Amino acid sequence: MSVPGISFNDGHQVPWIAFGTGTALYQQDATEAVKIALENGFTHLDGAQMYNNETTLGAGIVASGKPRSEIFVTTKLTKLQSGQTAKTALEDSLKKLGLQQVDLYLIHSPSHHQGPGRLGQVWKEMEECQSEGLTKSIGVSNFQPQHLKEILEVGSISPAVNQIELHPYVWKSLQSVLDMHAKHGIVTSSYGGLSPLFREKGGPLDPVVEKIRSRLETTRGSPVSDGQVLNKWMQQKKILVVTTSSKPKRIREYLDTINVPDLTPEESDLIETTGSKLHKKFFVSQLRTISSMIVVRLKLTLPSNFDLLVIESQWFRLNFTRGPHHYIVKSLRRKSPIVQWNFFAATKNGV
Ligand SMILES: NC(=O)c1ccc[n+]([C@@H]2O[C@H](COP(=O)([O-])OP(=O)(O)OC[C@H]3O[C@@H](n4cnc5c(N)ncnc54)[C@H](OP(=O)(O)O)[C@@H]3O)[C@@H](O)[C@H]2O)c1
Repeated sequence: MSVPGISFNDGHQVPWIAFGTGTALYQQDATEAVKIALENGFTHLDGAQMYNNETTLGAGIVASGKPRSEIFVTTKLTKLQSGQTAKTALEDSLKKLGLQQVDLYLIHSPSHHQGPGRLGQVWKEMEECQSEGLTKSIGVSNFQPQHLKEILEVGSISPAVNQIELHPYVWKSLQSVLDMHAKHGIVTSSYGGLSPLFREKGGPLDPVVEKIRSRLETTRGSPVSDGQVLNKWMQQKKILVVTTSSKPKRIREYLDTINVPDLTPEESDLIETTGSKLHKKFFVSQLRTISSMIVVRLKLTLPSNFDLLVIESQWFRLNFTRGPHHYIVKSLRRKSPIVQWNFFAATKNGV
């Protein structure tokens, strides 16, 4: 079964679905998983320097016995060490992968390259990787409009792709970045695309996906899964899907998405409008790497009978008590993650 392609703005073609070696395989030996993915029909492997498993990704290709010419390999640039450039980092990756060239090289995250003009400088180094033939195409990941603007201003090449967290629960919030992709011919690539199904079970999308799945199964006359509904939604939008699985059956099911009947425009709209009822991101790599300190300035006016103010986040709980002129910190307690901020004030008698 051949995997249909999507065209990049540089003339190259990319298989519409990729097998990822991050998340479940992060810092793990990927040899067997990559071999199984290739044996079951995947032709696109999504790796990264940060996953710390490029050597085993390369070993998986060898173990599969598939010719290099039939496989599309992506890797991603991580934070640079002193003296390194995007080019020397890619040369290290190529040694680990056992390849002469990758098909796609991405800047993994703008948060890895901070400082005035730094992102543009790194993009110029990415362009050099392409012009020297170390990679066929270059692109970015986790870029927001301001990051794209920064590299488009200095670069001579537009990124071929931007790989971002994309599923119905973030779809609405992505509109400005998607508009920029359309304007500059940048392919949108999704990771975490199946998150609504198992990272947020019981969300508003569940009954909608089930209704569409059932309709597609009747039309097709053979089984259709929940995952295929969301993958089909993305495939029809020409989104490059990056997914993964430990199970050969599920791997074949992902690839079988192209044989699932199309969603109607009304069904696509329903996925998007229902998705917009819950905004939920599941990957927060940006936040973790930007800084260990987050500064929040609050101006709250409380009735005079309130004596205790509590500010609670996923990381800590701060108790303030009323001082002579303003509230003062009484105690700080670190917490394990929860998903939202809570602000509440209390009188001496309770909340
Ligand atoms: N650029 C970035 O910053 C970035 C960030 C995150 C990820 N990525 C890339 O994207 C790849 C895929 O990421 P992802 O894991 O988030 O993809 P995903 O497509 O959202 O999820 C794939 C996972 O879903 C599970 N799954 C699929 N259908 C399921 C169902 N019906 N019920 C329960 N579980 C189900 C699979 O588990 P089974 O093993 O059980 O099938 C698999 O572990 C990564 O490997 C990495 O290459 C990139």
